[in-house]
Amino acid sequence: MGEVRVGVIGVGGHGRGRHLIPLTRTPGARVVAVCDTNPATLESVCREFHVAGYMDFKEMIEREGLEAVSIATPSGLHHRIAVECLRRGVHALVDKPLGASLQEVAEVVRAAKQANKVLMVGFWSRFSPALRYGVELYESGTLGEPYYAYGYLVRRRGIPGKPTFIDKELSGGKGVLLDIGCYMLDNILALTGFRRPVSACGAVYTKFGKDPEEIKFNWGWWDPARFELEDFAAGFVRFDNGMTLTIETAWAANVSHRGEVGRLRVLGEKGGIEAEGHEALQEIGFYSRTKSFLTDTKPLLPNADLSFEMTKAFIRSIQEGTEPPVTGWQSVILHAIMDAIYESASAGREVRINLPEI
Ligand SMILES: NC(=O)c1ccc[n+]([C@@H]2O[C@H](COP(=O)([O-])OP(=O)(O)OC[C@H]3O[C@@H](n4cnc5c(N)ncnc54)[C@H](O)[C@@H]3O)[C@@H](O)[C@H]2O)c1
Repeated sequence: MGEVRVGVIGVGGHGRGRHLIPLTRTPGARVVAVCDTNPATLESVCREFHVAGYMDFKEMIEREGLEAVSIATPSGLHHRIAVECLRRGVHALVDKPLGASLQEVAEVVRAAKQANKVLMVGFWSRFSPALRYGVELYESGTLGEPYYAYGYLVRRRGIPGKPTFIDKELSGGKGVLLDIGCYMLDNILALTGFRRPVSACGAVYTKFGKDPEEIKFNWGWWDPARFELEDFAAGFVRFDNGMTLTIETAWAANVSHRGEVGRLRVLGEKGGIEAEGHEALQEIGFYSRTKSFLTDTKPLLPNADLSFEMTKAFIRSIQEGTEPPVTGWQSVILHAIMDAIYESASAGREVRINLPEI
């Protein structure tokens, strides 16, 4: 099997660290070029990795004869760039979130289907051994039918004060739910089989970003007078099998823990899962019973390089012509839920969820 010629689009913090570096070590991949609109970033990455550099990803695809791209630009640009790449017949690994709305995500998934190319969403969190253990509990039937899930991903202070996350166009015009709430929702959906959501109720708040005093406690800098994104979101979701889910997520909240904490609980008819970590889960337990005893099960988890597992899975799907482990359809479900939480928050009532045809 020949090597897949890959280019990385957006080589800032995340693109360099979690896309480019693991791709350079991925069997079957050959990174030949990178693209970034910031000339200083582009120059330093090209020098460090000895690859060609472009300011325009379309030119890079054409001139380098790329078969695949890895996209880690700001979230508000993912949809447009992914659609253009797929239409040029190139496989795409797109960092989370796949788009800024359900409509955008559906367009990317349709573009991949029409081009018959691999589209994988860059949830490196999916390769966490803790999560994989939980998925095995679900898929083997050990958990039983899940009926309730709770997810929490909260920073005491962690508003990411740089344009990628704060600028309306670059961020996609949405705050913490789109930025990190998507990880916790994705983790829970993976543990419960990506059931069809039917309705959601939600609330969002902007309580810290408008306060100039808060800048010193958070990350980077922003203009409080122009801050419009939610820094806290909560949602309650119903699924077609009767399962319900509660989510809480915050860039900033007056909670007791330092830093960012992720927690989830999934209750199934035969047992329950509790897990902790950050965006990716790090610890997990399974709580059940035998005939006469209540049982606690803790797996011995191996270490894993999650970004490397992600890029390996992407290249393997291309080479073997198989569906990637993190699919576009899964993001359709995820974004249908997030859009419904935002819509409910603005309408002040529960809203129905209708999944689009792809
Ligand atoms: N999965 C994670 O844990 C995680 C963590 C951080 C960021 N991210 C995601 O990664 C993405 C990038 O975040 P980041 O922290 O690296 O931001 P960043 O600002 O450090 O990097 C973004 C890069 O994209 C470049 N860029 C902007 N527009 C471009 C275009 N049209 N073409 C090519 N390059 C362009 C910028 O110049 C910059 O170098 C975001 O979607 C973010 O949500 C994910």
